Amino acid sequence: MAIPNSLAGRLSVPVIASPMFLISGPDLVVECCLNGVIGTFPALNQRTTEGFAAWLDQIAERLAPAGAGAAPYGVNLVVHRSNPRLDRDLEVAIAHKVPLIITSLGLNRDLIKAVQAYGGLVFHDVTTLAFAEKAAAAGVDGLIAVTAGAGGHAGLLSPIAALAEMRRIFDGTLILGGAMSNGAQVAAARLMGADLAYLGTRFMATRESQAPAALHEMMLAGRASDIVLTPAISGVPGNFLRASIAAAGRDPDDLTKPAQLDFGTGEAKAWRDIWAAGQGIGGIDDIPAAADLCRRLAAEYETALAGAAAHSMRNGMPSISG
Ligand SMILES: Cc1cc2nc3c(=O)[nH]c(=O)nc-3n(C[C@H](O)[C@H](O)[C@H](O)COP(=O)(O)O)c2cc1C
Repeated sequence: MAIPNSLAGRLSVPVIASPMFLISGPDLVVECCLNGVIGTFPALNQRTTEGFAAWLDQIAERLAPAGAGAAPYGVNLVVHRSNPRLDRDLEVAIAHKVPLIITSLGLNRDLIKAVQAYGGLVFHDVTTLAFAEKAAAAGVDGLIAVTAGAGGHAGLLSPIAALAEMRRIFDGTLILGGAMSNGAQVAAARLMGADLAYLGTRFMATRESQAPAALHEMMLAGRASDIVLTPAISGVPGNFLRASIAAAGRDPDDLTKPAQLDFGTGEAKAWRDIWAAGQGIGGIDDIPAAADLCRRLAAEYETALAGAAAHSMRNGMPSISG
């Protein structure tokens, strides 16, 4: 187990509210961080690098009064060649000394070194063991296993298998993502060897998320079987709400043609019309304030671990009747 020093003691529950395209912004990040959860957002959620810098200023200003009492925040940089803003956004992130950079869709050794040079952490999001090996060799601080059922771009691996194999090749911070909606599941992730859990879909269903009301309603009505895994929307396999695919005039059962990844303009259009979400929607029944969700996750997490300890004590005791 490996929680970096810069995170230790600053979390109320070992959770990252993961970055979500078009969904996460400063309000969600700040509320999470003030309540002991690492809040994050994709740099591309602002249309320009200047707008991204303005969000970073705003977040730093709103978290400053809490000092070390707030959890650190993070930013997702898409490292794919179709992202025309990577270099400029990275410069801005370095200038602001963003505590955590989450990279996805590509590895960049210079980026990793540049972030570590100012004391920042780089967690890299992977969907396969081959990508995990490459990222471990490149020197990332954390590996995020995005496993079966996760919202947005997702892997096919079982979380159980992914964690076991990744722990063999990596002794840094291990983060598990995919379909978790409550604190007991976070506790289960810890018991299986993860240091932190990575929850997106659950945080999309909060008041501070930028999700439209119709998306919230579709999530509350949906179950795991309402999620479709397809490369046809964004170019790599991702989980999307079946009903939103149909509402956009496409046939959820005939999505044969893969799209092209395009972080210039294409992705925004694709994700605005067709909504990403994970299989965890079946365990989501409300749209709470993010602060209340963080407190609830922490309470559920503690209860689950205490319950597990009590259970193991009972089973370890010699039988009084025998
Ligand atoms: C609506 C939505 C948008 C997402 N956008 C991004 C993104 O821009 N960058 C990224 O690295 N991951 C993105 N993800 C993936 C999440 O960061 C994370 O891997 C996933 O939400 C974890 O699984 P869960 O949703 O089942 O909790 C997105 C997920 C969702 C649901």
